[in-house]
Amino acid sequence: MAQKIKVWDSAVRFFHWTMVLLVAGLWYSGSEGYIALHQLFAYGLASLLIARIGWGIWGSETARFRRFVATPGAAINYLRHTKPVVGHNPASSYMIFTLLALLALQIISGLATFDNSYMSDGPLVAILPASWVDVASAVHKFNINIILVLVAVHVFFALWHSWRHDNVIKTLFTGNTSGDDACQPTLRHSWSFFVLLLVLLWLLYYWQGRALLALL
Ligand code: HEM
Ligand code: HEM
Repeated sequence: MAQKIKVWDSAVRFFHWTMVLLVAGLWYSGSEGYIALHQLFAYGLASLLIARIGWGIWGSETARFRRFVATPGAAINYLRHTKPVVGHNPASSYMIFTLLALLALQIISGLATFDNSYMSDGPLVAILPASWVDVASAVHKFNINIILVLVAVHVFFALWHSWRHDNVIKTLFTGNTSGDDACQPTLRHSWSFFVLLLVLLWLLYYWQGRALLALL
C-alpha cells in the first residue's frame, strides 16, 4: 500500500531552492553591472556548491552522487518506460551533473573575469597572465548562455513530469512523496551540510566579502 515516504532531506531542498534564487540574482546583477553584489552572491553560491559536493559524498542515500550516477543505457531506458523513482531518475541525473559542472565553471571563470574597475575585478585577475584573464572573461560571458538554456530545458521537463507523472516539484519542496514503505531511503540529519556551509561562508567572507560589502 502507498505510504508517505521522505525522499529529500533538508540539505538537498535548501540547496536547490537557495541555488535557484542565487543564480537568478547572479544573472541579474551580472547583466546589470552590480558587480560587487554579484560577487557576494557568487561566494554564496560557491559555498553552497562545495557543501553540496561534500553532502554528495557522505550525505543521505538519495543525495549521494554514487547512488544517482547512471549509464546512458539506463537513462534511455528510463525515458522509454517512465516509472516513479525514489530519488533522482537516471535521465535527470545527467542534467544535474551537467548543471553542477557548468555552475562550477562559471564560478571558476568568474574568479578570473575582468571588470572595468580594478576594485570589482575577479580576485585572480591581478595574479594571472592577461591571456588567461581574456579566456576566463570570454568563458564567463558565454557559459551563462549555456546554463540558461539548460535551466530552461530542466524546468520544462520538471513541469512536464509533474503534470504527466508524479509531482516532483512539490516533492522537492516538501521532501515527501508516496510509495511503498519498503522504498523508504535512509536519510541522514543535515547538520554537517549546514555547518560546512557556514564555515565556507565565513572563510569566503574573510577572503573577499568584507571588501565587497564596503563597495556596496
Ligand atoms: C537556476 C535554476 C536551476 C538550477 C541551476 C537547477 C539545478 C538542479 C540541480 C543541481 C538539481 C539536483 C539537486 C540535488 O540533488 O541536490 C535539481 C533537481 C531538481 N530541480 Fe532544479 N534547478 C533549477 C531550477 C528549477 C526550477 C525552477 C524547478 C521547478 C519548476 C526545478 C525542479 C527540479 C526538480 C523537480 C528536481 C528533482 C529532479 C528529480 O526528481 O530527479 N529546478 N535542479
Ligand atoms: C566568484 C565567482 C564570480 C565572480 C568573481 C564573477 C565576476 C564577474 C565580473 C567581474 C563580471 C563583469 C564582467 C564585465 O564587466 O564584463 C561578471 C559578469 C557576469 N557574471 Fe559573474 N562572477 C562570478 C560568478 C558568476 C556566476 C556563478 C554566474 C551565474 C550563474 C555569473 C554570471 C555573470 C553574468 C551573467 C555576467 C554578465 C556577463 C556579460 O556582461 O555579458 N557570474 N562576473
